[in-house]
Amino acid sequence: MEQQQQHLFITLSFFLVFFLHCSTPTLAQAPALAPAPPGPTNVTKILEKAGQFTIFIRLMKATQVANQLLGQLNNSNNGITIFAPSDSAFSSLSAGTLNTLTDEQKVELVQFHIIPTFLSSSQFQTVSNPLRTQAGDSADGKFPLNVTTSGNSVNITSGLTNTSVSGTIYTDGQLAVYQIDQVLKPYQIFDPKPPAPAPAPAKSKKKAAAIAESPDDTTADNSKAVSLTAMQNVVFWGVSAIVIALSL
Ligand SMILES: *[C@@H]1O[C@H](CO)[C@@H](O)[C@H](O)[C@H]1NC(C)=O
Ligand SMILES: *[C@@H]1O[C@H](CO)[C@@H](O)[C@H](O)[C@H]1NC(C)=O
Ligand SMILES: *[C@@H]1O[C@H](CO)[C@@H](O)[C@H](O)[C@H]1NC(C)=O
Ligand SMILES: *[C@@H]1O[C@H](CO)[C@@H](O)[C@H](O)[C@H]1NC(C)=O
Ligand SMILES: *[C@@H]1O[C@H](CO)[C@@H](O)[C@H](O)[C@H]1NC(C)=O
Repeated sequence: MEQQQQHLFITLSFFLVFFLHCSTPTLAQAPALAPAPPGPTNVTKILEKAGQFTIFIRLMKATQVANQLLGQLNNSNNGITIFAPSDSAFSSLSAGTLNTLTDEQKVELVQFHIIPTFLSSSQFQTVSNPLRTQAGDSADGKFPLNVTTSGNSVNITSGLTNTSVSGTIYTDGQLAVYQIDQVLKPYQIFDPKPPAPAPAPAKSKKKAAAIAESPDDTTADNSKAVSLTAMQNVVFWGVSAIVIALSL
């Protein structure tokens, strides 16, 4: 009887140690933070500073294109050119336009505004059309983008949108950011030929602003983690009570 109790005590102690170990995994794994390196040019920061690009910034973040750009600016020798649509460009889209797009189409729309080459304003005069955008090859007619100049004005057309550069936000020989006041619509997403679904009757500004709220898909995982920890605690305290009772 005495020996049996001792055996039970040792077994329970083992479980106690085991569950203690399991309940505290995150404490042991806090990663050391390295000091931030100077790093590539931060496009988000440039657009934030310029103001009036809040929707484009939110779209770039929600689609992960902002992170993609950081990597590209760090590695590419060709540089990057961005045609950044202003907030008023987005608010002049018809109501609910952004909300009808799939995640993939949002990525394509943002990438359609990015050229994987640095283009100074004087280079617009000699660039060969159609331009290649990050959204894909223009050769198949899905993402055509042409730039033409006349005098000081730089006109841009996607076939569905005609606009022109309205200002230079930033240029450093590797990255150029130009303001445009209309969203460039690629054929791949906005082809007028297939019957379009009826647009939702909603205020365009609010809809557009809501777009970048990325869906919170971590909730389910969090609740699972919480209930697991709760269960570990129940077992932990239960085992502790038995161990204490036995050792008294
Ligand atoms: C870029 O700038 C934005 C805004 O200032 C900031 O929130 C973000 O953390 C920066 N990204 C990097 C990689 O430094
Ligand atoms: C930039 O590139 C260097 C060398 O390829 C790499 O070590 C570094 O992690 C990169 N930094 C970022 C922010 O991508
Ligand atoms: C550029 O666009 C303006 C209107 O925005 C138009 O008057 C002009 O003819 C266009 N120029 C070219 C070369 O397409
Ligand atoms: C773009 O330019 C190419 C070559 O000049 C032309 O074939 C094409 O039709 C143009 N596309 C648009 C949308 O203007
Ligand atoms: C864009 O401009 C071209 C001529 O420069 C014209 O034929 C076309 O209809 C215009 N498209 C739109 C959507 O305004």
